[in-house]
Amino acid sequence: MTATRASLRVGIAGAVRGTGFLTVMRHHADRATLTAAYDPVPEALTAFGRRSGVENLCTSFDELLDNVDVVVLSSPQQHHTPQAVAALERGIHVLSEVPAAVSPEQAQQLVGAVRASTAKYAMAENYCYTRPNLIVREMVRAGAFGDLYYGEGEYLHEMKSWHTTPSGERTWRYHWQVGRDGNPYPTHSLGPLLQWFDDRVVSVSCAGTGRHTDPEHELQDTTILLARTSRGRLLRLRFDLLSNRPELWDYYTIQGTQGAYEAARTSAAAPVVYLHGRSPAETWEPLEKFASDFLPGRYARPPIDAGHWGSDFWPFRDFLDSVLDDRPLEVDIYSALDMTLPGLAAETSIHQNGAWTHVPNPRFFTAGIGIDPGREAPLA
Ligand SMILES: NC(=O)c1ccc[n+]([C@@H]2O[C@H](COP(=O)([O-])OP(=O)(O)OC[C@H]3O[C@@H](n4cnc5c(N)ncnc54)[C@H](O)[C@@H]3O)[C@@H](O)[C@H]2O)c1
Repeated sequence: MTATRASLRVGIAGAVRGTGFLTVMRHHADRATLTAAYDPVPEALTAFGRRSGVENLCTSFDELLDNVDVVVLSSPQQHHTPQAVAALERGIHVLSEVPAAVSPEQAQQLVGAVRASTAKYAMAENYCYTRPNLIVREMVRAGAFGDLYYGEGEYLHEMKSWHTTPSGERTWRYHWQVGRDGNPYPTHSLGPLLQWFDDRVVSVSCAGTGRHTDPEHELQDTTILLARTSRGRLLRLRFDLLSNRPELWDYYTIQGTQGAYEAARTSAAAPVVYLHGRSPAETWEPLEKFASDFLPGRYARPPIDAGHWGSDFWPFRDFLDSVLDDRPLEVDIYSALDMTLPGLAAETSIHQNGAWTHVPNPRFFTAGIGIDPGREAPLA
């Protein structure tokens, strides 16, 4: 494929999740062109080349960076920060998969790199863009639920077969997802909640059920993370990668002074709201009834081939708009870490019997201050 002059040259690192971005990119052919790809596993890279049509298949991440203006990091999560730092140091824009970092040290490094770079960094938290979550976001902003004081998010995804390969080798998920206790993958639940609450988490307490279904793993079957926000609100996340049950990736509820929202708990149900003084007494109303008034036109019609209920389309679109038109990022470095750091604190908490554990504010990290603050310098 050839990039036009106005088109950004995009590289993808990580051939599996990277495939999800192909569809999205095809819808942006006028502004972004896939010019290179990298995956350390040759078979995966070749298959990606066949599927995408991209000819420049790179044998190292550095080589990928030689060929692009933007890199999409769809590599395993422990690589997100080191790869983002390498790209940002070269002035290459980064759209990173979730989570942003896997340790407090990585989080510091990432903030430093973003501050020192002229390039942009965003995290592709797609669950902020599902149709129900976008409708709820606008209803919250319009005050439909009053003042929010409680929220829940659940990510329940039985993935036992993903932790080893068919020949029994351990995958990255074995180490970085079920190899850690607490909530190592919190952003899908927390992302929408933090946007709705317009707040950040300041402390967490995390407890688990014990290990029952696949007890070799460090991660307990279900964990519950309680989170206190800076404005004193309470959030509760349930996380489960092991229990035998159908998936539920996108459950949320919120309670405000004037109403409540309940996402669908099963594929047979639909999301509902109750608006005090407007909904009939004791009656839930379908959320969809409010779509015409609240769903922003911009997000109304994702292409039908975009994954995760269409939500995969928007992080890339908003990122491109930010890079090309200098619009504000939806999920910048600070909101990315607000969605990521509570999971890291949860690991500390669960090892201390649920002790309430401080979640730092990445805006006040010192990394990168005074070296050559770039466009994201926050303390100015
Ligand atoms: N936002 C979402 O809805 C969503 C969905 C799935 C996965 N993810 C994220 O995407 C990432 C990848 O997940 P996946 O499901 O594709 O995992 P996967 O294990 O199925 O595939 C990972 C791919 O990355 C390659 N890889 C390994 N090391 C690499 C490196 N250093 N650089 C580039 N590629 C490398 C592997 O060879 C493999 O092809 C993870 O961080 C995961 O959290 C997000």
